[in-house]
Parts: sequence; structure tokens; C-alpha cells
Amino acid sequence: MQVSKIKELREIYLSRLKTTSSLEELEKLRVQLLGRKGELTLLLKELPSLPLEERKKVGKEANLFKEEFLSLLDKRREELKRIPRTPFDPTLPPFPLNIGKLHPLTRTLEEILEIFLHLGFQVFTGPEIETDYYNFTALNFPPDHPARDVQDSFKLKNDFLLRTQTSPVQIRVMEKFPPPIRMVSPGRCFRRDTPDATHLPMFHQIEGLAVDRNITFSDLKGVLEEFCRAFFGEEVKMRFVPSFFPFTEPSAEVSISCIICGGDGCRTCGFTGWLEILGAGMVHPQVFRNVGYDPEKFSGFAFGMGVERIAMLRYRIEDIRIFYENDLRFLSQI
Ligand code: DAH
Repeated sequence: MQVSKIKELREIYLSRLKTTSSLEELEKLRVQLLGRKGELTLLLKELPSLPLEERKKVGKEANLFKEEFLSLLDKRREELKRIPRTPFDPTLPPFPLNIGKLHPLTRTLEEILEIFLHLGFQVFTGPEIETDYYNFTALNFPPDHPARDVQDSFKLKNDFLLRTQTSPVQIRVMEKFPPPIRMVSPGRCFRRDTPDATHLPMFHQIEGLAVDRNITFSDLKGVLEEFCRAFFGEEVKMRFVPSFFPFTEPSAEVSISCIICGGDGCRTCGFTGWLEILGAGMVHPQVFRNVGYDPEKFSGFAFGMGVERIAMLRYRIEDIRIFYENDLRFLSQI
């Protein structure tokens, strides 16, 4: 047995010491080297059979190694004790996940549609690139009528344009299906408006249409009242004010009692106590003729509302532009 054997053991054990990861492992390592049948213990048992000179050298080397090993062992033990040992607990909740949520406009839109679905309406959608015919002419806007002016449009080639309203979907649905019809149609609309607190060149509308025999203005009032109560609350009051749309006769602008001040008058309602939320009316006979329905047999009502406007009232938002700024400080509040 030589000194080199001890050196070999030293190398192996000191490196194993560094990689121990628990107190149990550390104790095992100690026993393997210094236990009753440990590698160093067995080596030392052979000492008496060595010649004196060698016995001294090997003995000295062995003792140095033992001391070094034991002191490093203590150090490692302290280290391991300091490493916190958290046992795996499958019942703990996971780290909080940053789950996104629906955009306030999407939520508003879905809530509105949900109410109309319960009232027996079906959802249809139409194209955002429309023809002049569907966006205006079929809806009884004569070619040079000033009613087209308030919907200044983005014109494309060949009589195409970005639709300024969702009303063309009324025409598309009636061309395709005979009465009875109860439909709502959500979607994007586009107008050449300069952005300000209440206008954007792109916004959303929800269109509604019901056609059947004997549909009356009171059906329109009943449906819209039901919608307003479901969406804004039982206490809300409604008001119909005469208005003009080319595709409805008579036409009305519908307001609700101000949800901020309850009708007393405040800045939001311009001190009138009322907030306008949509346009509506009885379908004009000419619109029926344009789609091949007989206005003597059928009648109907239609309505159209701005989703941004309704969301602004619902959440008391004063500037429409905030919906499109992607500011999480705003989006995460709703
Ligand atoms: N399309 C109209 C607008 O954008 C809103 C509207 C009014 C739709 C009356 C209707 C309606 O269906 O009957 O100004």
C-alpha cells in the first residue's frame, strides 16, 4: 500500500462531497470512507504489516486526509442545512397566471346579443366592404339625398365603400330569407370622421330587424324596453323622440333616463336628464319593395345602436378613444 492510494481516495471523496445534496447522502459518504468497513479504515488496518518507514509516511498522509475530509464534511453539512427543503405539495395553488380577458367592447357586444338571443333573435353578419347599393340605395337613400352626407364614407373603386352602418345587413338577410325574420347583426362600421372624444373613423353597431305579419310600433317599444331593462337595470325609463331615417317610417330616436344622475340633469346628459342610445323605426314600404317583400302583407321594425356609445354609458367612459389605445391600466379595470 502506498501514499498514492490515499491520494486517489482523497480525490474521489472530496469531489463526491461537493456533489452531495442531502444530509443522508453525506452520512452515507462518511460511512463509506470511515465506517467500520470504510475504505480508509480498511486501509489503515493494513498499516501494521508495513515496514516502519512506509508505515510512517502512509499513516501521516492518511491522518491528514481524514482531518481534511472531516472538516470539509462539517462545512458541507452546514451548507446543506441552510438550503431550504420545500417538499412538493400538489395541493398548493399554482403561481398566479396572468390570464387575459375580453375587451370591454367585446363584452358589451356579447351581453347585448345575449339579450336579443333570449328574445328570439338570430345573429347574422355582413361584409364590411359594401356596395353603394346595399349601404344606401336599397335602404331608400336616393342618390343625391343629404342623408348620405352625414355618413361621409370611405369610397373604394367600382362603387364599393366601407359600410357606414350595419343596416345593409337588413337588405342582405331579407333578400335571402322570406319572413318571418328576427335578426340582430353586430359589426364594424366606418365613417370619415375626425377622431375626438365621441367620434372615431371605425366603430361598432348592432342592427336589429323583425319582419312578420302585423308587427306594430308597440312591438318595437316592447322589445327595446325589455332590452334596456335587461342591460341598464329595471329602474331605467325610456323615451321615443320623432326622428328621420330614410329606411324607416315613422322613425324615432330612443333615449334612456340618464344613468349617471337618474334624470335630474348632469354634464353627461347635457342637463337634459336623457341619453340617446339608438335609432329605430318601422321598416319603410320602399325597403320591402326593394327586397321583393309585399308591404301590404308584411310589416316590421328595425333599430341600430352604437356599441362604443353604449359601453361608454355603461362604464362611464368619457372618451371613446380609450377603447383603442391598448392601455392595460384601462383594459384591466373592466
Ligand atoms: N343606421 C343608422 C345610423 O347609423 C342607425 C339606425 C337607425 C338603424 C334606425 C336602424 C334604424 O335600423 O331603424 O345612423
